[in-house]
Amino acid sequence: MILRRELRTVIFRIARYEAPSYATSIIAKKSQATWGGRFSAGPAELMLSFSESVSFDARLAPFDIAGSKAHSGMLAHVGLITAKECKAIHTGLDKVGEMITAGKLRWNTALEDVHMNIEQALTKLEPAAAKLHTARSRNDQVATDMRLFFKWACAQLDGRLADAQRALLALAEQDGHVMIPGYTHLQRAQPVQVAHHLAAYMEMFERDRARFAVVADNANWCPLGAGALAGTTLPIDREFTAKTLGFVDRRGRPRVTQNSMDTVADRDLFVEFATACALVGTHFSRLAEDLILWSSSEFGYISLPDTFCTGSSLMPQKKNPDSCELLRGKAARLQGNLTTLLTLAKGLPLTYNRDLQEDKPPVFDSFDQTMMSLAVVVGTLTGAEIRRDRCAAAVADPALLATDLADYLVEHGVAFRDAHHVVGAMGKLAETTGTPLNELATADVQKIHPALGEDWADVFNLERAAARRVGTGMPGPKQVKRQMARWRKRLA
Ligand code: ARG
Repeated sequence: MILRRELRTVIFRIARYEAPSYATSIIAKKSQATWGGRFSAGPAELMLSFSESVSFDARLAPFDIAGSKAHSGMLAHVGLITAKECKAIHTGLDKVGEMITAGKLRWNTALEDVHMNIEQALTKLEPAAAKLHTARSRNDQVATDMRLFFKWACAQLDGRLADAQRALLALAEQDGHVMIPGYTHLQRAQPVQVAHHLAAYMEMFERDRARFAVVADNANWCPLGAGALAGTTLPIDREFTAKTLGFVDRRGRPRVTQNSMDTVADRDLFVEFATACALVGTHFSRLAEDLILWSSSEFGYISLPDTFCTGSSLMPQKKNPDSCELLRGKAARLQGNLTTLLTLAKGLPLTYNRDLQEDKPPVFDSFDQTMMSLAVVVGTLTGAEIRRDRCAAAVADPALLATDLADYLVEHGVAFRDAHHVVGAMGKLAETTGTPLNELATADVQKIHPALGEDWADVFNLERAAARRVGTGMPGPKQVKRQMARWRKRLA
């Protein structure tokens, strides 16, 4: 009863608190918007804060300014504005750029987005800027900004991925020769060098780099000229703009998008970019998981640097691999961003719909989190130490070379399926008699199969076993050395 009364007062208070603020918020102000001519009232305050994007798209400013410079250059080129007006616009845009860098531009949410904020700041400086939006819409403008952003972002991510590869290489060069068990099903399987295990992630990051190169190439088509959705009646030169902005093929020929409606409606690139980031996440998350396992007392193969671990507020002995756990967590977030984008675009009629403004937060978040995560990968690997004693103890398990013994039998004329069976029976004997596999009596094993000669136990020599793995991509010392040399060259 008391609870219900309390609840009612709380609800009442909330209602009382919200009612007046809501009332004022729906009172319209005079329109500041560029489309003010058509409207008798400006947007409600609530609508302003609901619909603004400048709080997250202001970071597009450098790309927006570059796009406006190219566009005005083109307008002058075709005679839609004079050379003098173009020059004034360019000088003004540089000034606005400087104001932004100096933190002196007051971003105004009433102006919705980065495009209108810049245009208005420019118009205050240069009246000629009233002509800048000729033959342009914010729809092809934002598509251009984002394509420029993607090209830039892919290059940044490529650099970070290379840094992560270098950190893997450094650890591999430091302690890479140490042998550890390789796992399948998280059960000890066959011995490998630490360097070989680490190089697996270098391969993954290499494919991630290739993926970002593809995304950057897909981004390399100029949207300007698509207008709102149907181009323009004015005699613009799309190729000129494309060239100015560097939307060109390898031979320097301009690349312009081929369908104006597709240009302003499609968000494939956003999805591709987020996919590439999510895959990077999947890769660093698996690396993080390996490091978490390896740093546990149960494995003990590695000790992680204090600088990327944290302690417990209660248990004094703890050193937790938080950076790695967060890397796993960030991977989930990157997948979430991808899902957001796929869902956002899937039901929209052509062409632009305002829903699409929500495409930017997940893209920027994927970029920021992937960049930071890769830096954390570097930090965590740098200063990590392989614990040789623990690795040696783990890899001494003779069962890791059971497959090599089957190969021995194959070399002595036994069919592999039979050989597999024979070694299985030896494993069982080892287990029931409590003898290590390699220490079974030769007389006993020869009863299982006569092809097991006096030298059968020589198989259980780690170095020999490694040296016999000579094929490309295998963990033999020669191959690993060759791979390391390849990476050193690639990452120099
Ligand atoms: N801020 C907008 C966005 O990111 C720019 C495009 C607005 N276009 C429009 N027709 N309202 O989507």
